[in-house]
Amino acid sequence: MCGIVGYVGESQAAPILLEGLAKLEYRGYDSAGIAVYDGVQVYMKKAMGRLKVLSELTHDGELMPGTIGIGHTRWATHGAPSDTNAHPHFNKDESIVVVHNGIIENYLKLKKRLTEKGYEFVSETDTEVIAHLLDYYYKGDPLEAITKVMHRMEGSYALGILFSDHPAELYAVRKDSPLIVGHTKDGSIIASDVPAVLRYTRDVVFIQNEEIVRLTKENMEFYNIDEEPIKKETTHIEWDVNAAEKGGYEHFMLKEMYEQPKAILDTFSPRIKDGQIVIEELGMSDEEIKSIKKIMIVACGSAYHVGMTAKYVYEGLARIPVEVDLASEFRYRDPIIEEGTLLLIISQSGETADSLAALREAQEKGARVLGIVNVVGSSIAREADNVMYTWAGPEIAVATTKAYTAQLIAQYLLAMKFAHVRGLLDDMGLAGMIEDLKKLPAQVEMLLNNKNRIQRFANRYLGAKDIFFIGRGIDHAISLEGSLKMKEISYVHSEAYAAGEMKHGTISLIEEGTLVTAVLTQEALYKKMISNMVEVRTRGAFVMSVTNVDNTEAERASDYVIYIPKTNKYFTNSLAIIPLQLFGYYVAVGRGCDVDKPRNLAKSVTVE
Ligand code: G6P
Repeated sequence: MCGIVGYVGESQAAPILLEGLAKLEYRGYDSAGIAVYDGVQVYMKKAMGRLKVLSELTHDGELMPGTIGIGHTRWATHGAPSDTNAHPHFNKDESIVVVHNGIIENYLKLKKRLTEKGYEFVSETDTEVIAHLLDYYYKGDPLEAITKVMHRMEGSYALGILFSDHPAELYAVRKDSPLIVGHTKDGSIIASDVPAVLRYTRDVVFIQNEEIVRLTKENMEFYNIDEEPIKKETTHIEWDVNAAEKGGYEHFMLKEMYEQPKAILDTFSPRIKDGQIVIEELGMSDEEIKSIKKIMIVACGSAYHVGMTAKYVYEGLARIPVEVDLASEFRYRDPIIEEGTLLLIISQSGETADSLAALREAQEKGARVLGIVNVVGSSIAREADNVMYTWAGPEIAVATTKAYTAQLIAQYLLAMKFAHVRGLLDDMGLAGMIEDLKKLPAQVEMLLNNKNRIQRFANRYLGAKDIFFIGRGIDHAISLEGSLKMKEISYVHSEAYAAGEMKHGTISLIEEGTLVTAVLTQEALYKKMISNMVEVRTRGAFVMSVTNVDNTEAERASDYVIYIPKTNKYFTNSLAIIPLQLFGYYVAVGRGCDVDKPRNLAKSVTVE
């Protein structure tokens, strides 16, 4: 979490920093700060709250002269959000200034040592340790001091650093937190993520672990931790700049929901050739696919919910046993990885700290890892043995919608491919599924266009205290995601439950008027679901159901029904999730919540 930017060049730095931070605010938004140097004085301004507070304080940067500077938007880990804990942080004589994304795990030990040596700390952050440690090692050579500090720090960091006696140089360092650098028309820029630099350049260099960059107006010099110069390749970013703008929508989340038909199309269409599924990036021969004995899926948040759905799809279609794990659990449970296991890491950002650690753990244990990743060139994409990209484009709203949708499509494609190669899906079956896949974009669009009806319904539940989501099989997985969307953006408590489990505890929470959202898209389970719906309804629940268009039986046990069009039974998640996303969205809008930036959350969770 946290976003960093830095600039050195001919232009005034502050406006560039503020604009870059605005594009990174999704990474953290409890406070922000910038430091700008005009060759005489380092000006620093920090403010708790959203970036706009800082922008107002600095008159959009005009009050801070200087052509070199660094900036930060924070998601607090060490020390509460406050002006003092906000970055940047100074050393004692204010000649070195640092911004940091990540966590210094041994900061307490380092802080103790530095305190013994007379250093005084003003903030509660781990970052301030870096500023003082740099001060301790600095003897006039920034590179030397930085590498010494790197040897002392444990944990993760992307840093932007200024040394006031090197007024034309900006330094940047990375370990396990994302960092990119590039040239603008009149200088050089660093940032945590591509959207912050797109306005200035499309050619960026992805900094790898334990690499250092010295940036000047004209140059970017790269070094390893032994201070040896290294060569780096430039990557050209193809994205449309508008993809990171709201484009007339009230929120990024709504815009991104509307981009789902395209995300689906872009993710499947390049992989269907002459009626066959071709996933070259998979890097597996048919023989290797046939020898898969088990699939393990590891992810966090919504990506984990994709894994939960995928389990039913792989097991049902390709008859391959699947284990799904939360990355934060997987990495510490000493997992048993047998031969013949294909391990999937699903991640939108490709930077989630737990997912990345799980990937490394799995590779150490000899697993072959396939990354299903949205952000091109991200850490998981680079470190996985193979990477299959989801082509959802940049996602800005903290609550994922289109990236989740694209991740589902990637799972369907893999499952169909595996089932076909393993002889469990014949050519006709495959052709039928491909036809259904092709219909999904239009079907999703139709459901989105039904948004007014869902908004009206949502407006009745703005005061809800608890909402339950129930389903069986794949529908349980959909419920998990529907419930997460609701709680993360509207702050209404909600819970997803496997419908058959309700009676083992949760049903005691049902009172007169409690809203229960029932998802029933699996024909074989209709009857069981209807029994569960009747059970809660007789105890006073108001039942809203999401079901297939032909299941009019559901009306018998529901107070309100939302129909989804007919599709393959393994694809229903892609349709049923749309009304649930809209429902969460409109409850949040109606309650006046900050939909795109829910409190306490960050989009890219690069800390444990
Ligand atoms: C955060 C985001 C979620 C996301 C999860 C995993 O919590 O808010 O939307 O599902 O991280 O992120 P990843 O980038 O690995 O998919």
